[in-house]
Amino acid sequence: MKLSALALATLFPAASPLLCGDITYSADVAPILYKHCATCHHPDDIAPMALLTYQQTRPWAAAIREAVLTRQMPPWKADPRYGKWSNDWSLSDQEIATIKGWVDQGAREGDPQRSPAPPVFSTDWRIGKPDVVISIPPHSLTADGPDEYEYFTVPTNFTEDKWVVAAELRPGNRKIVHHAHVFVSAPAKPKPANAKKEEPADPQSAYADWLRVHEGKLSWIRYEAPVIDDGCIVDDNSYWPGDKPRDENFGSGGLISSYLPGRGPDVYPQGTARKIPAGSNIGFQIHYSKATKKPEMDTTSVGLIFAKEPPQQVAKRVDLSNYFFRIPAGDPNVEVTECHTFKQDMYLTSLTPHMHLRGKDARFDATYPDGRKETLLLVPH
Ligand code: HEC
Repeated sequence: MKLSALALATLFPAASPLLCGDITYSADVAPILYKHCATCHHPDDIAPMALLTYQQTRPWAAAIREAVLTRQMPPWKADPRYGKWSNDWSLSDQEIATIKGWVDQGAREGDPQRSPAPPVFSTDWRIGKPDVVISIPPHSLTADGPDEYEYFTVPTNFTEDKWVVAAELRPGNRKIVHHAHVFVSAPAKPKPANAKKEEPADPQSAYADWLRVHEGKLSWIRYEAPVIDDGCIVDDNSYWPGDKPRDENFGSGGLISSYLPGRGPDVYPQGTARKIPAGSNIGFQIHYSKATKKPEMDTTSVGLIFAKEPPQQVAKRVDLSNYFFRIPAGDPNVEVTECHTFKQDMYLTSLTPHMHLRGKDARFDATYPDGRKETLLLVPH
């Protein structure tokens, strides 16, 4: 997929014929909810209530009206002026008007015969039958305490390099898996038998190691670290100060797949694949939510499909991270940047802004060799 800016017409339909007619759940609203809401709003998934039948939906009519008018639901934060996205499930103005009209007219059911069949949420793999399934050991979660970040490392036992064309990360228990990532980590290098003592640390990487502190499951940056709000001043391609460029095939971090509620599996374009070197480990990073307030169990897995032949193009993830900024107390709008220069032509297939609770807005801009600038993605809130 090639990204390009596309102006979307967002004209409100001037005179919607629906608004004067009879809007019913069965004929008009169910198809919208099935398409835009049901992936999360079905039993045992992340949303608090299912929206698959009239009986389930009716009590929520007023809340649904409010949620869609304010565009809180479905969650989709990208500014529609930039880019066109294959996973954009936001509602059109027409669909919002239909839902509003339905509630305003009394949220009636209408003729159930006219409703399409509710979507079925199969537990089958969406990528088809995986060549390999790798799972974490069963993990139990206590009822109380804060949310948990857990890390699991599972050996692949691959005896040859593998090219992954599709990967699907499947939570074992969708009520508690808030989100998860799977990474490939290189096999540990065997120490030569005659190695006398540890290699003397090179001062640059010793400095990089010193900057990050690991405390149990928490990692943080030392207060003594330099403040680099504008990470574009030095074109260091997002490497950590002092870090060495990593293995070509890993990109930064070796991310193979992610699960977020409603997100689809990772299926690479024809002829494109990601490499998992022989002997690699698979690392799972899982955020467990304690929202159910009950003891829970989870066995999350990743399913992989391998290429039959070596790919024409290697897919990589590149992180543009800046960990070295400072937010002065009370400052509502601190800008932090990071840049990366591509040395060859590239196809971008996806972008993922990621800032947790402190993030205010995010933007990706491309600057072309001729100096032309294009905004690829803007998340204004
Ligand atoms: C990506 C998953 C996802 C999709 C898609 C989604 N929702 Fe939600 N929805 C949620 C989650 C999660 C919550 C709970 C939010 C919270 O607790 O803060 C929620 C909450 C709600 C609420 C508020 C419930 C309350 O307690 O007040 C309404 C109403 C709602 N959704 C309606 C919809 C409608 C209508 C659609 C489709 C047009 C939709 N949602 C699509 C995940 C989703």
